[in-house]
Amino acid sequence: MATDQASVIDILVEQHHQIGDMLLDVVDARGDEKEELFQDIVKLLAVHETAEEHIVHPMGRTTVSDSVVDDRRNEEEQIQHALIELYDLGVTHAGFDRRMRALAEEFDEHASKEQAEEFAVLREKEDPAELRRMGQGVVAMEEEIMGKRARLSEAARAHGYWGPPIAVFNRAREALAEWQAQ
Ligand SMILES: [Fe+2]
Ligand SMILES: [Fe+2]
Repeated sequence: MATDQASVIDILVEQHHQIGDMLLDVVDARGDEKEELFQDIVKLLAVHETAEEHIVHPMGRTTVSDSVVDDRRNEEEQIQHALIELYDLGVTHAGFDRRMRALAEEFDEHASKEQAEEFAVLREKEDPAELRRMGQGVVAMEEEIMGKRARLSEAARAHGYWGPPIAVFNRAREALAEWQAQ
């Protein structure tokens, strides 16, 4: 997990590698492990996509261009749709692995373009101190969604609070808004 001092760009690049690996690992996993890994993917993608949508892409619109950010946003919407479809399908469905492999490819392509066309420019042009400050927002979200203090209690799980990807994404947005309000 990232430290408080890391730039938001470095954290997101590290997450690209992590997510890419997890998307392939879940294909090979079986049983409870497969289910848990899929839940972890949903949580990490929720943190990642929320950070991009609300922290990094707004900066990208100013510093890079609207058209580059619009293309990335379209790809992100497709990725989120694919994730929701996979959740609805369930990890034991015969088509899950094939569709997950397709998502892994799609994510990899998206992440490469994001790093080359957007992150590289932000890293060069944005104030490093500001990028580190924004990194703290991602760390705060990670803590809330994936950390030991995450409100991922058995009770919450039983009530389906963390069930559908959309609920996890909403929780990540809330956690970011809490950090921004501090
Ligand atoms: Fe993205
Ligand atoms: Fe990304």
